[in-house]
Amino acid sequence: MDYLEIEGGHPLSGEVTISGAKNAALPIIAATLLSDKPVKLTNLPNVVDIRTLLKLLAMLGAKVEHNNTEALIDCSEITSTKAVYDIVAQMRASILVLGPLLSRFKHCSVSLPGGCAIGQRPIDLHIKAVESLGATVTLKEGYVVAEAKDGLVGGKIIFDKITVGGTENAVMAAAMANGVTEIVNAAKEPEVVQLCQMLDMGGAKIEGIGTSRLKVYGTNGVPLEYKEAIDIIPDRIEAGTYLCVGAITNSEITLNKVNCEHIQTSIEKLESMGCSFSQDGDSLTIHPAQKLKGVNIITTEYPGFPTDMQAQFMAVATLAEDESLIEERLFENRFMHVSELNRLGADIWLKGNTAAVRPVKELHGAEVMATDLRASSALVIASLAAKGKSKIRRIYHLDRGYDRLEEKLSQLGAKITRKSS
Ligand code: EPZ
Repeated sequence: MDYLEIEGGHPLSGEVTISGAKNAALPIIAATLLSDKPVKLTNLPNVVDIRTLLKLLAMLGAKVEHNNTEALIDCSEITSTKAVYDIVAQMRASILVLGPLLSRFKHCSVSLPGGCAIGQRPIDLHIKAVESLGATVTLKEGYVVAEAKDGLVGGKIIFDKITVGGTENAVMAAAMANGVTEIVNAAKEPEVVQLCQMLDMGGAKIEGIGTSRLKVYGTNGVPLEYKEAIDIIPDRIEAGTYLCVGAITNSEITLNKVNCEHIQTSIEKLESMGCSFSQDGDSLTIHPAQKLKGVNIITTEYPGFPTDMQAQFMAVATLAEDESLIEERLFENRFMHVSELNRLGADIWLKGNTAAVRPVKELHGAEVMATDLRASSALVIASLAAKGKSKIRRIYHLDRGYDRLEEKLSQLGAKITRKSS
């Protein structure tokens, strides 16, 4: 199995180009199911999760041409509406085919995803959303079986809790429904915004894009037609991760192809820790702090501080000169990196959903194990600053969501190698 060997403690410098956002690309790939014409996607990140979802679409009968950053997807001849366990178990985001399959084909079955490393992660809100549009949903042999014999009908979806994937499924389900759907307490993440813009361009008019109240004018069964290629937005979490790399290794790093508005909270938190920034168009340079200060973080929905940046900031906070408090409000089990960071010499204490990160003078290399995607990147960040060699195991988590991580870090001067044992 592959692992990463990192020799830490070396200053980095240079430029890194941010890839397209995995979490924007996934719902956009699912939304190609709403069209019977080929759709071109550009700026795709070259990561495993994208290949997994493209494989699922191919299993449903889509014709997929994919080369690293571009894909041409033709869903004109879908032959199956069943998302099988093998794929869904590999990637929870496969649930995103529920809305579009049901909206266009009036029935589908999608395997229940089950739990995952960062928490229970139920899909009840996805199911409630399609039920609000007239679908009948039953659970059979581990599958969500959804049906709307005469097609989905516009309705009101009120989310009790803000959900990114739930909102994405809701807008895709509403897109080909008969009539208007109102979505209340919708997620406002940039990835949701790009999906809504795509559906709007495809013929399902959407009002309120980027707000918590969306109005979707369904096409009454007419497949969408995306007239232009969809260029995936820059990955705000990858960008934030490289900013954390700069902050912890005391290095000036320039990010190219970044959307600064999408990473405002990460920029503000790093400023409060003593870093400064200069921006030039879509390039952003981090100037490291003389001395890193502690930080207080509460994860919340966009535009608040993202849960997907919590682990990386915790890694940076280990070397701050005073204590940091980090509260995780979205997922109940997203602190698995704590014990691994402590193996690298950090001093982190957990109580419930809050971590107290006490300052240490230095981190030291150790053998650690990645537990989920963002936890893995936190271990990479900490290892880059740790004195000596670290080995990070189970890096298949990283491969799911970080495009060419070792290559990009090596370009910045990091001593990082992928090995197998
Ligand atoms: C998306 O997951 C992202 N994944 C996650 O990114 C991200 O951490 C998360 O949003 C929060 O920002 C993708 O976009 C593919 P949610 P999602 O539904 O949509 C609860 C990464 O590292 N909930 O917004 O699954 C849920 O348990 C990842 O790239 C229900 O209770 O997240 C959580 O507490 C991992 N019932 C909260 O809502 C439901 O039916 C928010 O989850 C759905 C969600």
